[in-house]
Amino acid sequence: MVYTSRRRSSSLENKIAALDIQDEVVIVVLGASGDLAKKKTYPALFGLFKNDLLPPNIRIVGYARTKMSDEDYKTRISSYFKLNDDETKAKAEVFLSKCSYVSGQYDTDDGYIELNNHIRALEAEMKVSRRDRLFYLALPPSVFAEVSIHLRKHVYPGEEGSARVIIEKPFGHDLESSQKLQSQLAPIWQENEVFRIDHYLGKEMVKNILILRFGNMFFSSSWNNKYISNVQISFKEPFGTQGRGGYFDSIGIIRDVMQNHLLQVLSLVAMERPVSFEAEDIRDEKVKLLKAIAPITIDDTILGQYDKSEDNKDPAYIDDPTVPDGSRAVTFAALHLQINNERWEGVPFILRAGKALDEAKVEIRIQFKDVAKGIFQNIPRNELVIRVQPEEAIYLKMNSKYPGLTTRTVITDLDLTYHSRYENLRIPEAYEALILDALKGDHSNFVRDDELDVSWQLFTPLLHQIDEDKSIVPEKYPYGSRGPASMTKFLRDRGFVRDHEGLYQWPVTKGSI
Ligand code: BG6
Repeated sequence: MVYTSRRRSSSLENKIAALDIQDEVVIVVLGASGDLAKKKTYPALFGLFKNDLLPPNIRIVGYARTKMSDEDYKTRISSYFKLNDDETKAKAEVFLSKCSYVSGQYDTDDGYIELNNHIRALEAEMKVSRRDRLFYLALPPSVFAEVSIHLRKHVYPGEEGSARVIIEKPFGHDLESSQKLQSQLAPIWQENEVFRIDHYLGKEMVKNILILRFGNMFFSSSWNNKYISNVQISFKEPFGTQGRGGYFDSIGIIRDVMQNHLLQVLSLVAMERPVSFEAEDIRDEKVKLLKAIAPITIDDTILGQYDKSEDNKDPAYIDDPTVPDGSRAVTFAALHLQINNERWEGVPFILRAGKALDEAKVEIRIQFKDVAKGIFQNIPRNELVIRVQPEEAIYLKMNSKYPGLTTRTVITDLDLTYHSRYENLRIPEAYEALILDALKGDHSNFVRDDELDVSWQLFTPLLHQIDEDKSIVPEKYPYGSRGPASMTKFLRDRGFVRDHEGLYQWPVTKGSI
């Protein structure tokens, strides 16, 4: 599916931001020796390079404190590349020949001066006509400001080219810390130079939401409280914090995946039609929607923490030696959000996320209302499911006549499972899609500053209450289960009707009903 976006050119700033970095660019990965760079940034850059999606005249420079030989650096950054065949191995060689490394401190000038000299030498070799530089801060947010100040002072191309900077969550811990971070960065980078990654916005099915909704009359016309009963956006992971508990403990699942990833998905599912696919038009609508969400109360939540598995083989969260004794950290949460606007009043939106559950799955489940009574006594509801991962799919549960000499109705589906529908399907990794967008200057799939503010405004009171009120104790659920036992009632009370008489389990295999 191809869609075009109209770009605004009302000011020079916007023109620069919209500039496609077509031919030549130097990408600088700060924090090049860290985990994010190794596991996500470099594999994504290589994925793009392998598919000829990076500008032809490119260099990639790593910067970090660790002193490393060129060889060690290249071994490290390529350790997560998938090198399945000779052609890919050969491409990796070429890719690595374009990579180099400079080591230096984050808080003193010398390293950055050296970095700039290194980049200028590369640009001379590349014979660039402009100095277009993309800075990827694969660093903890605590050093974003410090690093930005030095980049701006020594490595910013100014009038000679353009700068873009990619940063990644956590953007603060609550509204106050997020605003503090923003106020530190705002004088250094213009908003249109900043690309705040929420990697869920780079996922194929998340990028499909607006097309599905606004490109199909049958969906856009029924997308409201007259026809939809409830919406669930679920995130399930089958593993616990696994030694990362110390880090996770002060964060919890709400900050980790709900305030950002799931809320982003919700805003795309629920926002009004943007006037165009232009980044600002989309983000304006998302912000409007977020502002219409009512405060989340503790009574509208379920909080859980995983316990040992029923067979005692998998540990409880608190068994993790890095977790403080008696921790109340939330590893599962379900939140009922209400959107106060004409379209959605009365429709529960349920965000739910959990670690150490029974499966790996991220999906959006839109359950329609019952059909009018009369000809049918008890017929299942339609459900539209957008399966984000694994195995991207969209399926619509619907009623149909059972084939043959019978008038019996049967629940079945219209199934668009990507791998069976599209041949030779290659869905790019979220990070690949987002880095490419940043190179193109397209902000549509990145988080704007005011969007960040509204999302923190929404979550901060609840998070502070959970952090401070010691009487709030998460409900235990066994490792590997579906989550806290009270979920079934929570969903039922909010209008969700589960799997009509247990007849339907997706995918419906031939002849199974
Ligand atoms: C990250 C969270 O943002 O998203 C992790 O910090 C989580 O805890 C991850 O596992 C999930 O991302 P994905 O792409 O694997 O669904």
